[in-house]
Amino acid sequence: MDHFLYRDGQLFAEDVPVAEIAAAVGTPVYVYSTATLLRHYRLFDEALAWGPHLVCYAMKAASNQAILKTLAEAGAGMDVVSGGEYARAKAAGVPGDKIVFSGVGKTREEIRMALEGGVRQFNIESEPEMRAISEIATSMGVEVPVTVRVNPDVDAKTHAKIATGKSENKFGIPIAKARGVYAEAAALPGLKVVGIDVHIGSQLTELEPFALAYRKVAELTQALRAEGHEIVRLDLGGGLGIPYTRSNEAPPLPVEYGQLIERELGHLGCEIEIEPGRLIAGNAGILVSRVIYVKEGEGRNFLILDAAMNDLIRPAMYEAHHDIVPVVEPQPAAEQAPYDIVGPVCESGDTFAKGRMMPAVGEGELVAFRSAGAYGAVMSSEYNTRALIPEVLVKDDQFAVIRARPSFDEIINRDSLPAWL
Ligand code: LLP
Repeated sequence: MDHFLYRDGQLFAEDVPVAEIAAAVGTPVYVYSTATLLRHYRLFDEALAWGPHLVCYAMKAASNQAILKTLAEAGAGMDVVSGGEYARAKAAGVPGDKIVFSGVGKTREEIRMALEGGVRQFNIESEPEMRAISEIATSMGVEVPVTVRVNPDVDAKTHAKIATGKSENKFGIPIAKARGVYAEAAALPGLKVVGIDVHIGSQLTELEPFALAYRKVAELTQALRAEGHEIVRLDLGGGLGIPYTRSNEAPPLPVEYGQLIERELGHLGCEIEIEPGRLIAGNAGILVSRVIYVKEGEGRNFLILDAAMNDLIRPAMYEAHHDIVPVVEPQPAAEQAPYDIVGPVCESGDTFAKGRMMPAVGEGELVAFRSAGAYGAVMSSEYNTRALIPEVLVKDDQFAVIRARPSFDEIINRDSLPAWL
């Protein structure tokens, strides 16, 4: 459920008409709903209320400071995967002991930064990384909590580009090798082994792959404990999918996910961490765009929008579907026609949808991409020297620009000329 609903014939973000935001801030623009962000965070928090837990929002999904602060104030921890994300978490006021540091290639600078600023744990992804963390922590005279990310070789049944739990993926340590790696971790100075980490992929629409992976984590927990390791924390990653279409898709709910975790792992008495990104931010954001032209092609009509693949890359990159709806509510009986919905960027890949059935929308009218809050703004670029688009946060009947659109001068002035020019 989200808070982008039609009211009095037009689309609202909470209590603000979307058209009012577009008029004030211009288009294209990302619009987020505070109530939806908080609702989704709390659903996870409640789903794990059966035991000690921390919901660490995977900020890679949407990392604007205002979004982070909203969630942090509600109690969320953060999952970060770079020095930049770590700095963002700290800037949003998240204490170090609520920041989990994930990621396949943490650099020595990033490791040092997190050790200096404080970190809840590193999720170790390889043996060389483990040795680097040990070395740096030791040189700083500290001991840091760590888990090892295991790769359970489970098919997450999602898009190949976002599946991470198969043995051919670059992530984690093969679960069969885990005991050896834990033995080394326990022997290394500067590391305090606290648990196990796993993340098998994103946009999972079934619970079964989670169950398979978590069963393997349960077995590993017992085996490691038998060898004398203190396994007190399980980081179960993110990945729970969201409905991208209103009609037929119904991924499992956070409450069902929480029950599954309790069933598979509850008996181990561990503190549970999860790292959801998409489910918290995805349906909490829309991308609002204006129709520049309606062009009649050979046997097809193109809806040319002012948003493009650089603003929302997911359709081009993952063949992802986003519902695209007119901001003015169509009449229930309105006739629909197929449109190719495209942006102005000079690539055929700049296509959001082909043959999408839509009620008629004309030049200058507004449309909204639903479910664009996660992996939208964070993956945008300035390709074609299109300015990064603004972000707006709504709370009840208020809205605020949380990232302004840069001017062309600001964009150009980031370049500098060498002495010979
Ligand atoms: N934890 C780890 C270690 C991850 O790698 C990810 C996502 C998450 C948590 C959060 O997963 P979520 O709950 O959001 O599914 N750009 C792609 C998605 C990439 C996901 C990468 N890792 C997309 O637009 O679909």
